[in-house]
Amino acid sequence: MRTPTWLSLASLLLAISSAAGVPVPAMFVFGDSLVDPGNNNRLVTLAKADYAPNGVDFPGGATGRFCNGRTVVDHLGELLGLPLIPPFHNPTTEGQRILHGVNYASASSGILNDTGKLFGDRFPMHEQMMNFQKTVQELSSQMGGGAAGELLQRSLFFVGMGNNDYINNYLLPFSGKPRKYTPEAYTQMLIQHYRGQLKNLYRLGGRRFLVAGVGPLGCIPNQIVHSGKDAGSCVSRTNGFSLLFNSDLNLMLQELNANLSGSHFLFWDTYSTTMDVISNFSHYGNAHAHLLAHSYILFPYTACCGEGRSKSKLACLPLLPLHCRNRSEYVFWDPYHPTDAFNAIAARQ
Ligand SMILES: *[C@@H]1O[C@H](CO)[C@@H](O)[C@H](O)[C@H]1NC(C)=O
Ligand SMILES: *[C@@H]1O[C@H](CO)[C@@H](O)[C@H](O)[C@H]1NC(C)=O
Ligand SMILES: *[C@@H]1O[C@H](CO)[C@@H](O)[C@H](O)[C@H]1NC(C)=O
Ligand SMILES: *[C@@H]1O[C@H](CO)[C@@H](O)[C@H](O)[C@H]1NC(C)=O
Repeated sequence: MRTPTWLSLASLLLAISSAAGVPVPAMFVFGDSLVDPGNNNRLVTLAKADYAPNGVDFPGGATGRFCNGRTVVDHLGELLGLPLIPPFHNPTTEGQRILHGVNYASASSGILNDTGKLFGDRFPMHEQMMNFQKTVQELSSQMGGGAAGELLQRSLFFVGMGNNDYINNYLLPFSGKPRKYTPEAYTQMLIQHYRGQLKNLYRLGGRRFLVAGVGPLGCIPNQIVHSGKDAGSCVSRTNGFSLLFNSDLNLMLQELNANLSGSHFLFWDTYSTTMDVISNFSHYGNAHAHLLAHSYILFPYTACCGEGRSKSKLACLPLLPLHCRNRSEYVFWDPYHPTDAFNAIAARQ
């Protein structure tokens, strides 16, 4: 039964959002292209999405989001009553606009500094935290150190890293990493760096963390096509990496909860969320229609935009025709990223 799980997750999130008896005043976001709102637009990189048809369902069109509409943090922010959280790497993100939070996420980035370097410039987690430090200084000069510290304590920190450390590092065809590390050793090394990074965000003032695990990487259309499998089933070896990372991450977060006083680290199992939608896609739009107004997932493995078999070899490029008229029927927008419809479901979970 899904509903009770939903309810308990919802109440956990509510507990987080009202732990101090007040709603979440701001959200700070760290991550990769799943939540990047346009931080890469001004970088020299192939990992950008600031052109149509991206944004075809977003008010005002393309922004740099790798999606037809809104990302999962856009939807989450709306559920928490927050305005759209602006990208750090944009000259208009200053003054009052940072008071509800800032988004540092950068497409192709990861926990490791070398992750995603194939594409060009990006902000790895280390640099996202340095950018956050600049925001903290700016908030302190605007509000005073005490008030800024209180704001940070009550804010939600959304952190979602790790996807690219596999698909755009360890699992790349010419990666040297598998010769140096077994999957287990590589994962432990990632978790060790990630632990240090999360502790650093705590040291900088964060207390309430929602940490997204790695999704079922073997189910993204790009991985399915490269494995030579028929569209219609996931690559289980690749999914094994996600499960390994998530189980180590979950333990690490429990440890941080126990060790860092006043902290709340909540693990969001994006893997199960995605598998549930993919496996039970026919339910979404029927049984759960009342919960999921406007979400009708029908095509679980095919992307809406991007050419090739199952439209899943290339990214979503400007001149490619858009094959799906109704984006609400798809899980995947392009060969890597989910649709607005999926993100709406995920945020509610
Ligand atoms: C990334 O590089 C910075 C600067 O050299 C270094 O301090 C940091 O530890 C590196 N991060 C990782 C995960 O290797
Ligand atoms: C938590 O504390 C225990 C015992 O002091 C220590 O062994 C462990 O490494 C700590 N974990 C973290 C994440 O700091
Ligand atoms: C699909 O839904 C059923 C019934 O709600 C549930 O038991 C099952 O775990 C779901 N599948 C996945 C992969 O989550
Ligand atoms: C999109 O597809 C869903 C499910 O098939 C349908 O209910 C909805 O009316 C469609 N929307 C448009 C604009 O065609």
